[in-house]
Amino acid sequence: MEARRSFGGFFAMLVLSSLVGSATLAHASCDFPAIFNFGDSNSDTGGLSAVYGQAPSPHGETYFRQPAGRYSDGRLVVDFIAQSFGLPYLSAYLDAVGSNFSHGANFATSGSTIRPQNTTFRQTGYSPISLDVQFNEFYEFRRRSQVARSRGGVYEKLLPKEEVFSRALYTFDIGQNDLTAGYFLNMSTNEVKAYIPDLLGQFKNVVSHIYGEGGRYFWIHNTGPFGCLPYVMERIPILVSQVDRAGCATPFNEVARHFNRGLKEVVTQLRKELPLAAITYVDVYAVKYALISKPVKYGFKQPLRACCGHGGKYNFDMHMGCGSKITVGGKEVLVGNSCKDPSVYVNWDGYHYTEAANKQIFDHIVGGSFSDPPVPLNKACHRLPSP
Ligand SMILES: *[C@@H]1O[C@H](CO)[C@@H](O)[C@H](O)[C@H]1NC(C)=O
Ligand SMILES: *[C@@H]1O[C@H](CO)[C@@H](O)[C@H](O)[C@H]1NC(C)=O
Ligand SMILES: *[C@@H]1O[C@H](CO)[C@@H](O)[C@H](O)[C@H]1NC(C)=O
Repeated sequence: MEARRSFGGFFAMLVLSSLVGSATLAHASCDFPAIFNFGDSNSDTGGLSAVYGQAPSPHGETYFRQPAGRYSDGRLVVDFIAQSFGLPYLSAYLDAVGSNFSHGANFATSGSTIRPQNTTFRQTGYSPISLDVQFNEFYEFRRRSQVARSRGGVYEKLLPKEEVFSRALYTFDIGQNDLTAGYFLNMSTNEVKAYIPDLLGQFKNVVSHIYGEGGRYFWIHNTGPFGCLPYVMERIPILVSQVDRAGCATPFNEVARHFNRGLKEVVTQLRKELPLAAITYVDVYAVKYALISKPVKYGFKQPLRACCGHGGKYNFDMHMGCGSKITVGGKEVLVGNSCKDPSVYVNWDGYHYTEAANKQIFDHIVGGSFSDPPVPLNKACHRLPSP
């Protein structure tokens, strides 16, 4: 009896430990060897700068101490993501000088949209590198990097191994510019809403294509409350009754949330269609809106006003942008020289967030409490069992 009981106990322990073992395994940290990022200026680490000229000083001043291809005073959320995995910051795919792609590549450019625009960069400032083009770049990169690697030498050190593409994290932050583009063409909110299904369809196609190229782990940011950004509030007149308690323009934020609901639905569909993919939807809208609507709670003094800018209600005038030279009282001044402490501002230049805000956004999303499913960033390789 005694022997049987202890055998039973031993057996139960074995079962228990193997259960615990597999549970621990399912929650093991993911070892992403690389990040491939797709997006707009929210995550551009040098793409637009490589092609159209460097984002001028004082961009980059807080962290890099010089212009660094980013539209911010310092690091972006994607930089903090890379850093959290012990990876170097991502080189922009378009940056031909000094880049190291062994741990990933960044296809984002400032002004990028999901849909190709029918206007040029010079006309409207939207980048020609829309999401479909970013996918084409990735497709070429994946193949050509392997051909180049086979030549050995420095190419082996600067380009990823084949296996990296299926083990990498694929990150996305795009959509905001598609929504503002319609408004800047004088469309009504209903007209903008009418093309959102087209945006979402094109976004979904790109994720499916990356899966077709072997990508498995996807981390998708939703779009932010662009109705709180000076470049939108200054340019598109709205009624006083359409301003909320945080001082943001309600109609634009409603459109952003409308897009985000659709994006979340697309993610649900993709999970069904791509059986081996782990896809995380991340509500950065909620975090950005929290920083802007409760600035003091998060250590900010200025939620809406741009730090690096000049003029207007929000220290922003699109004709006197951050880093440009203007004449004030007969003297030439650099726009941004008056921005002494970016760390108390949420907004950097009227369009983008400060490093301080980006750090807060990262700190909030890294643990998974703004994600669906609610898994932390370093567990984003685990596909949840189907319900
Ligand atoms: C550009 O024009 C094409 C052809 O008229 C149209 O199908 C497409 O939706 C337009 N794109 C945008 C962003 O307006
Ligand atoms: C490129 O980055 C990888 C990953 O951090 C590093 O191991 C390697 O030394 C770098 N290569 C060169 C040539 O800088
Ligand atoms: C939008 O409307 C404004 C004001 O009426 C006008 O100045 C501008 O040219 C219009 N823009 C477009 C793209 O039609």
